[in-house]
Amino acid sequence: MAHKGYGKLILFGEHFVVYKVPALVAAVSDATECEVKLLPGGSGISGEDNRPAVPGYKVEKKDEHDEAVKLVLKHMGCDFESQGVQVTFCGNLTAVSGIGASAAATVSLARAVAAAQGKTLTEEEINRAGYEGEKGYHGTPSGIDNTAATYGGVLRFQRTDGTNSDKVRQRLLCGISTKALIFSEFLSGDPIFVTKKLKTPVEVVYASTGITASTSKVVADVRAKKEADEAWFGALIGKYQELVIKGEKALDDADWNTLGQLLNENHSLCQELTVSCKELDTLVDAARAAGAIGAKMSGTGRGGLMLALTPGKESQDAVAEALLKAGAAQVWKTRLA
Ligand code: MEV
Repeated sequence: MAHKGYGKLILFGEHFVVYKVPALVAAVSDATECEVKLLPGGSGISGEDNRPAVPGYKVEKKDEHDEAVKLVLKHMGCDFESQGVQVTFCGNLTAVSGIGASAAATVSLARAVAAAQGKTLTEEEINRAGYEGEKGYHGTPSGIDNTAATYGGVLRFQRTDGTNSDKVRQRLLCGISTKALIFSEFLSGDPIFVTKKLKTPVEVVYASTGITASTSKVVADVRAKKEADEAWFGALIGKYQELVIKGEKALDDADWNTLGQLLNENHSLCQELTVSCKELDTLVDAARAAGAIGAKMSGTGRGGLMLALTPGKESQDAVAEALLKAGAAQVWKTRLA
């Protein structure tokens, strides 16, 4: 059986989600897969990384990836000093900044390690192991990527801390649509998330700038900017909080025109936060000009990915073509479902 971790696209809330406000994220159907073999008598970690990737990604991320693998193995009590551990990554998810490739890898690894150890873990345990691995890529992950990688589907996600989780839970429960399912066990400090069942699937296109971004650097830079000017950051996150409430309603109502407009507004907030860049803005503009009803950067930014909302196959094809012409390194078509 394939041990999978899904890629993801953040619809609303990259960076803001680090500061414990809700975000909306959609897993894509492409996934990283992992196989683990335990080799008694050997020692150390060996294996291959056969994931498809945009040029440069694997070289640039190698140290972080190796650290993430070690963190997952340690977290799962998989000793790689008194036995060899062979780890092979593959699957159809292209490793690219913004798609949550690191979380897809750590979650697939957690599943593969559990299988090799003969253990049956809960999804929550897999998610936690994936989160530990994410720390290898970036010291303070919000947990949104590994949660999408574990559970798949469309999710509303929010970090909590031990002091406010009850209040947050109350707020979240009030906003939950009847179709939503609750997965979190609300342990103190654990994130809270709900899966969302869309009324109808909708087409999206996502495209890479070809630039590999460092999540840890960009997240640290946002934090430094916030600390230097709390009033500026407070105003931005306030606007974002109003936006994400409307975004969730538009998503629930399958009101694609409104959703598109709100995605555009989220992109403007990312620009104000200085996490967009000219390559992302060029692709976002090209998508809108080709008929996308909304487009925004997605993920870490300063390179990485953008996404465009393109209901209908015709619009999806036209926007994908326009993005390639505008210089996208690679373009993918998928559906939110
Ligand atoms: C990265 O996919 C999303 C960020 O918000 C970081 C995080 O949430 O850990 C930039």
